[in-house]
Amino acid sequence: MNSKDFVSIRDFSPSEIQDLLLLGRQIKAYPDVYSEALRGKTLAMVFEKPSLRTRVTFDVGIQQLGGFSLYLSPAEINLGKRESVYDVAKNLERMVQGIMIRTFAHTIVEQMAEYAGIPVINGLTDYSHPCQAMADFLTMLEVKGRLDELKVAFVGDGNNVAHSLMFAGAQLGAEVFVATPPGHEPQADAIAWASERARETGGSCRITNNAKEAVSAADVVYTDVWTSMGQEAEADKRLNAFRNYRVNSELFAYAKRDAIFMHCLPAHRGEEVTNDVIDSPRSVVFQQAENRLHVQKAIMLELMKDVPVGPVRPATVPELAHA
Ligand code: CP
Ligand code: NVA
Repeated sequence: MNSKDFVSIRDFSPSEIQDLLLLGRQIKAYPDVYSEALRGKTLAMVFEKPSLRTRVTFDVGIQQLGGFSLYLSPAEINLGKRESVYDVAKNLERMVQGIMIRTFAHTIVEQMAEYAGIPVINGLTDYSHPCQAMADFLTMLEVKGRLDELKVAFVGDGNNVAHSLMFAGAQLGAEVFVATPPGHEPQADAIAWASERARETGGSCRITNNAKEAVSAADVVYTDVWTSMGQEAEADKRLNAFRNYRVNSELFAYAKRDAIFMHCLPAHRGEEVTNDVIDSPRSVVFQQAENRLHVQKAIMLELMKDVPVGPVRPATVPELAHA
């Protein structure tokens, strides 16, 4: 892998993304083989937003590879307020061998990656959620046995999860169809990138305001919350704007008979998805959540395996003071 960081799925070639997925599968099948792979290495986990899955899977994942984790809560670091991103990066690179960061603006993760001499992993920004998309496609591969010509319908908000699903789908040759209310489409640059890359890999990326059109004959129906972390003030307005984009059994029936239901979680049951869909035998949401662990172990292994424990640059030996 060329990049030392995992900031965006766009930073990799299609074969690098495929290789990471296959490594995730390998680690899931033979975890004991990798139990010392990152022995003695530490991952700092910087959280500026809440989490269940991301925190637990990175924490457990690094320990299963023989390493350690440090949880740094929003109150502890207070990025950009108590201390600049630059100074945090320059401190952490001397103490740990990798940084996982969940924050608001995507530029903060990009800056952290630029300033820190150690790997930086994007654990969700307002713009993207690449680790989630890796787990999503690992799950689709497991359940469906293939990714090319797989029709993936994402219904709801054109948000961070939708962006990463579009990027990963384009890299892997899938057909990603996103249905959102008018005004909530994915960002134009994300659509442009995914469409361009999909042309090279034989996949596609289409956007519509018609949920039934997207779900028709889909192999996978995916949704996410209507109000993401940081958008809480808009929750009431969003409830109204998204009300016709709920994945219920009526909408799910437009998909193929063997279609699966996916959700990155946490779910707001009764809003973006009804209980009969998320609790149905065709729902794979917990397999998807578990796969965060396996695929992130692959990402950490690839990025951190060559990072030495110890000084990141030759230590300067102070001149002995002359008596
Ligand atoms: N899907 C996901 O990232 O979950 P958390 O917000 O709980 O980490
Ligand atoms: N779109 C959601 C995803 C949570 C994992 C959010 O950003 O809150």
